[in-house]
Amino acid sequence: MKIAIVTGASSGLGKEYALQLSENFPEVEEVWLIARRKALLDELGEKLAIPAVSVPLDLTSQADIEALSRKLGDEKPQVAALVNCAGCGYLANVADTDPELLTRMTDLNMRAMTLVTRAALPYMPEGSHIVNVSSIASFCPNARMTVYSSTKAYVSSFSLGLREELRERKISVTAVCSGPMDTEFLDVGGIKGNSKMFRTLPYCDPKKVAAGSYRAAKADRAFYTPRAFFKLYRVLAKLLPSTFVVKLAKT
Ligand SMILES: NC(=O)c1ccc[n+]([C@@H]2O[C@H](COP(=O)([O-])OP(=O)(O)OC[C@H]3O[C@@H](n4cnc5c(N)ncnc54)[C@H](OP(=O)(O)O)[C@@H]3O)[C@@H](O)[C@H]2O)c1
Repeated sequence: MKIAIVTGASSGLGKEYALQLSENFPEVEEVWLIARRKALLDELGEKLAIPAVSVPLDLTSQADIEALSRKLGDEKPQVAALVNCAGCGYLANVADTDPELLTRMTDLNMRAMTLVTRAALPYMPEGSHIVNVSSIASFCPNARMTVYSSTKAYVSSFSLGLREELRERKISVTAVCSGPMDTEFLDVGGIKGNSKMFRTLPYCDPKKVAAGSYRAAKADRAFYTPRAFFKLYRVLAKLLPSTFVVKLAKT
């Protein structure tokens, strides 16, 4: 059985990845939808063109990640596509952020993404695809989102290294570096109404980001950055001293 796994599928970008899956990967026969809110996963599953399995997991929990590993071990599917989209980002200075929220960002954005990938890799055949959702925040640290931007730098770095490791296995790895999207992310992270930067930047449409990510994955691209504005930012952040860019990139 050829499956796809989408984490963070209950809302926002992850939901779009699930909705656009079958048109992009017609070989996939079933999709495993992962997030904490099972009712939303069930509702989404009914809308998909292929059978969907709701896998309600809290990916910050080691026990839940082990449950996913066991499910893969029991069913031994072929994972044709893995989309690591679950993520969160909280706006505030490090010193003013509840340590539990700091840990939630590092656990979900880095630890879970790494371990879900590790769990899926033994089941990924030649020609399969990994899409890791990073962010423009990975280009340069964003003060007031210092931990979030650092976790996304990890996602991009992890993706590029893994891509080299998997070259011989012909498995593509693509890091997606979107700009802001109007999703639950903004409310969950206390960003809406509290960040001049988020009010000023152009927004990305999750539908277009999902479509572009899949195009980039099928073309075996290392990175996908939507919109010319953010492509330019990526180049400037590489060329200019980071001590200068960090002052402009404050959220
Ligand atoms: N929105 C933006 O401005 C923006 C910009 C660049 C990159 N991104 C990245 O895009 C990705 C998707 O974010 P989004 O904008 O679509 O936000 P979103 O609507 O808040 O989606 C986040 C998803 O992650 C899931 N999730 C959160 N905590 C989880 C946990 N402990 N265990 C399992 N799943 C969990 C949520 O589902 P449950 O609550 O049901 O668990 C939800 O499905 C994230 O990686 C984010 O960092 C977002």
